[in-house]
Amino acid sequence: MAQSSSGGLTVNGFSVPLILYGTAWKEDRTEALVELALKTGYRGIDTANQRRHYFEEGVGQAVQKAIASGLCRREELFLQTKFTYLGGQDHRLPYDPRASLATQVRQSMQSSLEHLGTDHVDSYVLHGPSSGVDWCPDDAEVWQAMSELKRAGQTRLLGVSNINLRQLHALCKGDGEKPSFVQNRCYARLGWDRSVRNLCKDRNITYQGFSLLTANPEVVNHSGIEIGVLESHSG
Ligand SMILES: NC(=O)c1ccc[n+]([C@@H]2O[C@H](COP(=O)([O-])OP(=O)(O)OC[C@H]3O[C@@H](n4cnc5c(N)ncnc54)[C@H](OP(=O)(O)O)[C@@H]3O)[C@@H](O)[C@H]2O)c1
Repeated sequence: MAQSSSGGLTVNGFSVPLILYGTAWKEDRTEALVELALKTGYRGIDTANQRRHYFEEGVGQAVQKAIASGLCRREELFLQTKFTYLGGQDHRLPYDPRASLATQVRQSMQSSLEHLGTDHVDSYVLHGPSSGVDWCPDDAEVWQAMSELKRAGQTRLLGVSNINLRQLHALCKGDGEKPSFVQNRCYARLGWDRSVRNLCKDRNITYQGFSLLTANPEVVNHSGIEIGVLESHSG
């Protein structure tokens, strides 16, 4: 990982913005809010093919509009989406639930590419391992399928989310593709996920923290933080 000329990061040779615009829970405001984010200058978007929490098609509509209007080019965008197991989905599935996991991954990716109107994404993330404890054979099958999509050029980079230290160790020890990203909810009271972040550092994995504000109200509402914000606003 290195700082790129655009002020973002370079991860395995690809430019990655320092901040991604998160698109969960925006429902029918997704398109307008992503459009606004792009107009404001965001070039990295995080979404998921999980209709329960994200409206990926709305993200794609905003992206297409921005490209068609000349606001940005596809090459300037960093589009990240996710594969979500059946347990994390509602009835609006992007794959056949009776198909093998590898097929579900391929179908989910195909559907994401259609939603986003692109022939590749920049990062494809496993939304979370199948168990909260270990890296299981199902995860290995899914990761293998995601790795094949990477080799086929449908994603530039791979990532994994909601992963614990034990699972990340197991994934890194395997002989398959290594993740470029870990995306975890980052709690101050749990030491800001220090052990996972340390392993990421050792393995040259870029850590994406999410819910930094909403997961940490005690920090956000701390009087010292308020003073800092007031000071920076006052000049
Ligand atoms: N991998 C996963 O399992 C997973 C799960 C959930 C989410 N995500 C991703 O992460 C994104 C959310 O993470 P995030 O890092 O953006 O969350 P965050 O740091 O908690 O911020 C989310 C939003 O909360 C609002 N907010 C909360 N407290 C605030 C405060 N004190 N002052 C100002 N604004 C405050 C702001 O939105 P408003 O101004 O609009 O209120 C802010 O943009 C999702 O959209 C999704 O892309 C991933």
